[in-house]
Amino acid sequence: MILNKIKFKTLGDERGSLVAIEQGYNIPFDIKRVYYIFDTKKGVERGFHAHHNLQQLVIAINGSCDFIVDDGRERKIVHLDNPNEGLLVNGIVWREMKSFSDDCVLLVLADDYYNESDYIRDYNEFKELINGK
Ligand code: TYD
Repeated sequence: MILNKIKFKTLGDERGSLVAIEQGYNIPFDIKRVYYIFDTKKGVERGFHAHHNLQQLVIAINGSCDFIVDDGRERKIVHLDNPNEGLLVNGIVWREMKSFSDDCVLLVLADDYYNESDYIRDYNEFKELINGK
């Protein structure tokens, strides 16, 4: 499985750092939704789903967490701890999030609105879908 990471240019000066994400320039899809996960309690694991049709870019803009991607053949753990870097998650990929630091803010940009019917929340259903392809 090829992991697609996007490195953002950091615009910094003596005051600090700034990253700009602009549709059509440094993100490969049109952004319809932005959400962020924060204040995650100790030991919590999130996600445990795939999507039929959704592109997402995931950035730990503060703190860190582990983002697990599983394409049905291979499972990779990506440690996200860099506000200058985003992980692109697209295709039918099972994802899990764990090991959140107390201060983790995980920003997610998505190319579509929230739609529960796009979710695959059952791992066996996900595997069947992958194997049927
Ligand atoms: P959930 O899918 O459980 O989050 P995660 O996959 O990160 O563990 O979502 C938590 C709740 O928030 C659930 O009730 C659905 C809702 N939700 C929205 O309303 N809009 C959204 O964009 C997202 C991602 C979730």
